[in-house]
Amino acid sequence: MRRTVLVAIVLLLFVVGGALVDLWPRFRRSRVPDRFGFGTPATREEIRQADTDVTPDGRGLPHDSGTVSQGESVYKLRCAGCHGATGTEGPFDRLVGREPGDSFDFGRDPNFLAKRTIGNYWPYATTLYDYINRAMPFDAPGSLSSNEVYSVVAYLLYRNQIIPGNAVVSDRTLPLVRMPARGRFVVDNRQGGRSIR
Ligand code: HEC
Repeated sequence: MRRTVLVAIVLLLFVVGGALVDLWPRFRRSRVPDRFGFGTPATREEIRQADTDVTPDGRGLPHDSGTVSQGESVYKLRCAGCHGATGTEGPFDRLVGREPGDSFDFGRDPNFLAKRTIGNYWPYATTLYDYINRAMPFDAPGSLSSNEVYSVVAYLLYRNQIIPGNAVVSDRTLPLVRMPARGRFVVDNRQGGRSIR
């Protein structure tokens, strides 16, 4: 009889102990403070500096402009070393080219042999501003002025035979540029659940 009571007590201790171990993380979480007492709210100026995104329709583009000939100098100085003298040689990503024509054979190219370029793949010209402004040159991102970014965008669009050599690219004109691959993409507006195919 006494042995049974002893076994019952030991079992009870196990059960209670197990429950406590389970609850421990919850107990600890409840002790995390609401505030840690360091950091300062971001200023308007800090937010403005970080808020550089440009949407496909051109919202967020700064008020400025650039030309193809200015862009040629920027390209030679800041981009050619990595993307090649004409934007096709590399060593890094090829930027210029309409191959494989405008036929858009990428889906039938499982080995990715066809090179995606600005001319044959990018659906929005405005993304060029956003991307180059935030990410290029690769070794010094953020170092170009808005005039330099507009100019090099103009030069790359010209080299891809999308705009003429005398075009001025600005916050007003860039959203109007229609890219060759524009019709090749659809908006993914699926909500999840059954509609996901
Ligand atoms: C130090 C080398 C380097 C320099 C300089 C450089 N790039 Fe790049 N660039 C890269 C690399 C590497 C990538 C690929 C990055 C990735 O996939 O994340 C790239 C990607 C790009 C792309 C995207 C290509 C695509 O279709 O996906 C563009 C556009 C581009 N660079 C433009 C420029 C421009 C314009 C300049 C000059 C202002 C420049 N780059 C300077 C290395 C460089």
